[in-house]
Amino acid sequence: MAEDAGVMATISGLLVRIFKLGISEKEQLRPDHLEGLVHGRKCIAMDLYDCLADLSEAEIDELQERMLWWFRADNGVLKRTCGRRFDPFDQLSLSAIAATFSSGQIVRVHDVGVSDGRSSCGFYDALNSLYGEKLDFLASDYAPYLYVLTRKRSKSRLIIDEQQHVLQIIKPPFVITVGHSEKAKIRHPLTKLLTALYVRPLLKDYQSGRADIEVRKLELLCRQCRVRMNENKKLRFERYDVLSCPTQRFDIVRAMNVLNYCYFSEATLTKALKNIFHSINDGGLFITGSNFEQGTIVNGGVYKKTNDHLQSIEISGNGSHVDTLIAEFNRVDHVLHE
Ligand SMILES: C[S@@+](CC[C@H](N)C(=O)[O-])C[C@H]1O[C@@H](n2cnc3c(N)ncnc32)[C@H](O)[C@@H]1O
Repeated sequence: MAEDAGVMATISGLLVRIFKLGISEKEQLRPDHLEGLVHGRKCIAMDLYDCLADLSEAEIDELQERMLWWFRADNGVLKRTCGRRFDPFDQLSLSAIAATFSSGQIVRVHDVGVSDGRSSCGFYDALNSLYGEKLDFLASDYAPYLYVLTRKRSKSRLIIDEQQHVLQIIKPPFVITVGHSEKAKIRHPLTKLLTALYVRPLLKDYQSGRADIEVRKLELLCRQCRVRMNENKKLRFERYDVLSCPTQRFDIVRAMNVLNYCYFSEATLTKALKNIFHSINDGGLFITGSNFEQGTIVNGGVYKKTNDHLQSIEISGNGSHVDTLIAEFNRVDHVLHE
């Protein structure tokens, strides 16, 4: 029986993926509908992210996490995240932070690539209880603001980013997340067809300012972050591309589940590390690591910036993906300083 259920689940998963069937309407977000064998594997339209206010907090969190799980920015990086994703690693980081910065000190933190910010909240709360009014916490992401395009009275929609890259096509019953990964270059025939018949004409009409096109801004900022931002000004949320340029200086820079070889080439990771390195005050900390889902082991570490070098002071799991790159920087120190 258990084997039969497993086979059925695999077949239904394949069917959903092959035919790109998705959940496009709010009414389909009922637990009885979602939990079915087929529906459980369906992609959810991203513009339902901010239409959940009448649900319980737990339901909102679960649905938003599910929406983000397979959603990608235009550079192919998944927006996958979840609350309390790496609590034990946060504890390790917090011990290093408490040992480095005394409680009376101003501490400026930048959490890079936070998706909708839910994995930053526990970290922020712990730092807030350590440093209170002295804490300044910036959470940032590459693509936190999206737009929903639709023709008046149509149920079909397009999710695009600020640069008008198409991220999701919603043409009920299909919901297609368009990743710019290597695999997405071999486009699904349905994606090709919808791009020609629906996406291109809609974008063209939008760009020419046609009055029958509706546009709505979609802010991917989680409920927990909004609550904290309303409470005080110590938590800020901004758009930032770690490949663009260094920011102003911070005492702590953290980048979780971003600096991975599955997303970026070595040259690109080197550029990101350079920008991060130049954004950290001398004596400050760089925290980085990757894991899968909530509670899984983080391969990562904590580094301290001293004498223009990053020195590993804590290791978790197998260590960070970029550990070898950092060691290389330290050996050939002009790479970071140029
Ligand atoms: C897998 S999520 C990780 C989210 C969160 N840090 C966590 O661990 O749960 C990766 C995030 O990095 C962001 N990202 C992708 N490219 C980026 C870049 N060049 N600069 C900053 N963030 C980037 C994506 O938009 C996405 O939200």
